Amino acid sequence: MKILVTAGPTREPIDAVRVLTNRSSGKMGYAVARAAVDRGHDVTLVSGPVGVEAPHAVELISVETAAEMLKAVKEGFAASDALVMTAAVADWRPSNPETRKVKKHEAVTRINLERTEDILASLTGQKGERLIVGFAAETENVVGEGERKLREKNMDLVVANDVSREDIGFDADDNQVTFITHDAPPDSLPQMSKDELGERIVAWVEAHA
Ligand code: PMT
Repeated sequence: MKILVTAGPTREPIDAVRVLTNRSSGKMGYAVARAAVDRGHDVTLVSGPVGVEAPHAVELISVETAAEMLKAVKEGFAASDALVMTAAVADWRPSNPETRKVKKHEAVTRINLERTEDILASLTGQKGERLIVGFAAETENVVGEGERKLREKNMDLVVANDVSREDIGFDADDNQVTFITHDAPPDSLPQMSKDELGERIVAWVEAHA
């Protein structure tokens, strides 16, 4: 199969040196990409800035901003059989980033933000037979919010995780997730390494292709 994977955070410029970002390390997405390569799939990895080494044999597309990730995913989606969207894409970006470095003596008291485009929602019209796996990063009502995102973003599988926990989610080596689909009750998996979870996600994609 041809599998498109996204990973890591995005970085939205505030000025020439400062950014708005989040704590995604890329570990989850790189684990999915590695598992897919190991199973013999043809993998494109669209990655925000991370310190993780790219798996062998993936086509790596490095991006910074949500807009760049949107463009790369849109370009790769048509030729893919499945998309696994682990990236923590910024929901907002500064609306008027300065191209120069703002001096610290300048009295900046507020940064105006605008919404970024939702990448998954933007693919609805192109989905066809392609499988879409997304994540839901929640701090409360994890399953309920995952079910809402499954419907609203037209996904086939939501991998929901509780990102308020320190031992799973952002930057941890392990994750504990619930698989949420349209036709089965939520399936809460035990805590496991992100590598193992990557294998479980790839196995799910293979079973539903
Ligand atoms: O990178 P790690 O440190 O290993 O951490 C892993 C993780 C916590 C980042 C990962 O497990 C995870 O939860 N990824 C999803 C993060 C996220 O943005 O979740 P969300 O609930 O805000 O978004 C729901 C889905 O919509 C996600 O698949 C997201 O990629 C996608 N999205 C979000 C915003 C946007 N503008 N476009 C999108 O497509």
